[in-house]
Amino acid sequence: MTAQTTVPTGNDLLAEINRLRTERNAIILAHYYQTPDIQDIADFVGDSLQLSQMAAETDADVIAFCGVKFMADTAKILSPDKTVILPDMDAGCSLEDSCPPEKFKAFREAHPDHIALTYINCSTEVKALSDVIVTSSSAETILQKIPRDQKIIFGPDRHLGGYLSRKFDREMLLWPGVCIVHEAFSETELLKLKEKHPDAPIAAHPECPPTIVDHADYVGSTSGILKFAGEFEGDTLIVATEPHIIHQMEKALPNKNFIGAPGADGNCSCNICPYMALNTMEKLYTALRDLEPQIMIEEELRLAAKKSLDAMLEMASDTVGKGDLA
Ligand code: 13P
Ligand code: SF4
Repeated sequence: MTAQTTVPTGNDLLAEINRLRTERNAIILAHYYQTPDIQDIADFVGDSLQLSQMAAETDADVIAFCGVKFMADTAKILSPDKTVILPDMDAGCSLEDSCPPEKFKAFREAHPDHIALTYINCSTEVKALSDVIVTSSSAETILQKIPRDQKIIFGPDRHLGGYLSRKFDREMLLWPGVCIVHEAFSETELLKLKEKHPDAPIAAHPECPPTIVDHADYVGSTSGILKFAGEFEGDTLIVATEPHIIHQMEKALPNKNFIGAPGADGNCSCNICPYMALNTMEKLYTALRDLEPQIMIEEELRLAAKKSLDAMLEMASDTVGKGDLA
């Protein structure tokens, strides 16, 4: 094995990532669903909106994006002159996969009087076909700024779209995509857990189906759930989203007890995002070392996708709190 392909271990791995971060003038951004080691080495941990804003504002030369591909694509769309690396290029998303651009285009063309309000969990091509992008933490604010008589297509997450539609009593045409992680929570197992902890509130992400959301005391984005964790009265919280977020809760609130909501088998291993899990410290190291895998987006497509992202950043600018518990 040559020196170039050797990956250090333990403290040497941490030291090498830190050395490369400085040498490359790189910022490491991580989503709350990344493993604790990655969260702990990141310069910034956040939800999808916060990470987009960080990517748009940073003066680093390199963005090492520890999240999934649509997030790294978003960073490149907003910061085209920066080198954006993703530790594993296969870190996709079931929502993005559910919405092929040509089918989305045909759907839009079949409903010319509708605007497309689209969840950020989609491809760059679908962003380019959309009017306004939303994240879980910006969707409510943005929806309320759209006139009530404006017809809306919402994709690709039918559970987030359905939740917004019920909450604001607005009919929307929903694309039938789901997040495989949030879809895997079990109502039966959740109710069994609640019986054991009757005083524990339930916090759920709006990507969960109504069978879970309907039992929740709080529904919101990852940063919203973290905020709720810091504010709820009591000592135990049931958390219905990807369980790696609990790392931030345990760090900030060591005297409280956080329990991941269960999947159908009664434990929450099926609720770990398999795409986020592809990123590892070793792959982060080699990505910083080789500046590969690197996100590349053709300029015409980038500019088309940027319009709907800019619309989100503009419409959500007054609602955003950065960093939360991270
Ligand atoms: P937020 O962090 O914006 O809540 O998104 C959750 C998610 O599933 C990201 O893929
Ligand atoms: Fe996609 Fe769900 Fe994983 Fe988020 S948690 S990246 S929505 S599959």
